[in-house]
Amino acid sequence: MFTPRRVEGLRPRIAEISDELLDAMAGQEKVDLLDAFAFPLPMQVICELLGIPAGDRDDFRAWSSVIVASEARPGEFPGAVMSMVAYLREILALRRATPGDDLLSALIEVRDSEDRLSEDELTSMVFLLLIAGYETMVNLLGNGTYLLLDQRERWEQLRAEPALLPTAIEEFLRFESSVDTATYRFPAEPVEIGGQEIPAYAPVMVSLLSANRDEARFPNAGSVQLDRSPNLHLAFAHGIHHCLGAPLARIEAQVAFAGLISRYPSLELAVPAADLAWTPGVRMRGLVALPVTLGQAAQQSTSA
Ligand code: HEM
Repeated sequence: MFTPRRVEGLRPRIAEISDELLDAMAGQEKVDLLDAFAFPLPMQVICELLGIPAGDRDDFRAWSSVIVASEARPGEFPGAVMSMVAYLREILALRRATPGDDLLSALIEVRDSEDRLSEDELTSMVFLLLIAGYETMVNLLGNGTYLLLDQRERWEQLRAEPALLPTAIEEFLRFESSVDTATYRFPAEPVEIGGQEIPAYAPVMVSLLSANRDEARFPNAGSVQLDRSPNLHLAFAHGIHHCLGAPLARIEAQVAFAGLISRYPSLELAVPAADLAWTPGVRMRGLVALPVTLGQAAQQSTSA
């Protein structure tokens, strides 16, 4: 389902969604790019893939932002999880009654006819796909746009050389990784790393962001190079838990940045970069809002 070949087939639909959103922004002088574009694009894509009605997005966004910042908002965390689970159970019941040609119906089929998933496993799988499928993407689109606009010459370089887009996206992922720290790891036996003894089963938080700025691995790690190659970053983690959605994320990002740059070539930050606020917590790296002025729009959207 999430192989590079399968997700490549989604590109035309992703481009349609992207174009609709870019068209809807036309005529406005200033927008919050997260609200107008970076959030609704991946949300619509993952909802369509799973077969989830997109109507309840706002609730959904509120719960999810609490869940991914759990250590910064501990009081709100249990309520947000309960609301999300109750909502997903309703949706699963709906899909079970009226199956469609979507991932949710396929997962329900696996659960009901082959009994390979328990009901709780089914719910948590959908929970993970839904949250992982868009919170991270909002940050990739937001952080990448910020990196391009903060130093205008990067934006102009990408406009002049659109072929740089795939390596530029890898550099956004490396430099401002959407996922700051991986989920907890527990060593099965004591290990020593960098002179630090870690006892067996001690919880370890691995900072992907820090690894991605490792000077020993990335020459001039502190500078953004849109043509950086090789760029073997850890933004999608590593090993058996390597991100399942990485091929989809790359396609969504290519479509989104190509569309944004061609449709709004004069896009600019509407506030000084120093005034932009970053979300609290150590789990995710993303902006709270990204106010931009749109400038003159080009006639045609060309996300595809
Ligand atoms: C910029 C976009 C994305 C980034 C930076 C990202 C990053 C990550 C990272 C770092 C992990 C590993 C977490 C850990 O081991 O602690 C992960 C796992 C995962 N991601 Fe993504 N992700 C992105 C987009 C997506 C999308 C679009 C989907 C779904 C459609 C997705 C689905 C998943 C799933 C299901 C896992 C769990 C894999 C496993 O544990 O076996 N991700 N992602």
